[in-house]
Amino acid sequence: MASLRQAVVVADPDRLAVTAAERMLARIAANGGRIAICLTGGSSPKKLYELLATDAYNTKIPWLRTHWFIGDERFVPVDNPLNNMAIARKIFLDRFSPSSHIHPIPTNTANPDESAARYECELKAFYGAASLDPARPLFDLVLMGVGPDGHTASLFPGDPALRQTERWVVGVGRAPVEPLVARMTLTLPALASCREMLFEVAGKEKRAILTRLAVDETLPANRARSSGETLWLIDSAACPETLRGR
Ligand code: 6PG
Repeated sequence: MASLRQAVVVADPDRLAVTAAERMLARIAANGGRIAICLTGGSSPKKLYELLATDAYNTKIPWLRTHWFIGDERFVPVDNPLNNMAIARKIFLDRFSPSSHIHPIPTNTANPDESAARYECELKAFYGAASLDPARPLFDLVLMGVGPDGHTASLFPGDPALRQTERWVVGVGRAPVEPLVARMTLTLPALASCREMLFEVAGKEKRAILTRLAVDETLPANRARSSGETLWLIDSAACPETLRGR
């Protein structure tokens, strides 16, 4: 079944960010204990991150109980503008979160495989077990985006990383789309271990790939699903004809 059946279409990128922020707050409110949020890279979540920095939202986040992870990273130094976690840190995390609660994928290693192995260890230590229990998701919320080729996180069409069932994080060679750098990515099982997976997709340039995803073409973004709830937030410019007026 097409993942996009669970799509919510909103007017524009501002509305998309507000809707995503409200869903994040709802997931946070539902957990009275330690909270784990997995952020995403790319440009799509920037408005959401900006919103989380405003008083209306930052005052509602229990920062001392909340931990922040990232679903994929580019193998570039933290001072490189392409570094995904650095963008989130700059926009909101460094202003509000204890630094020990920010969990970037390290990039100061010999290669992406080593970075991935180190992050997998960190995730397992945080989770407190080496295998994922379906009854106890790793994350409360996983944010996702979609690339023009249907990739999500750094899971690219045809890449062996998609077949991983054991590893939580893997290194990926040079990405086939911009930015053309090596990456590290959480695998499908690790990303699935969440109460909610929330895709944010905006802009008319995303309409073609959403049209393909809506007819259930087998692409990474259609294979990424939460073991709990999966929701697609789409703005009207990105919305394919087939999903209009449902
Ligand atoms: C990355 C990503 C990637 C991204 C999509 C969408 O590091 O590039 O995490 O999966 O989410 O490519 O990117 P945009 O939001 O920039 O369209």
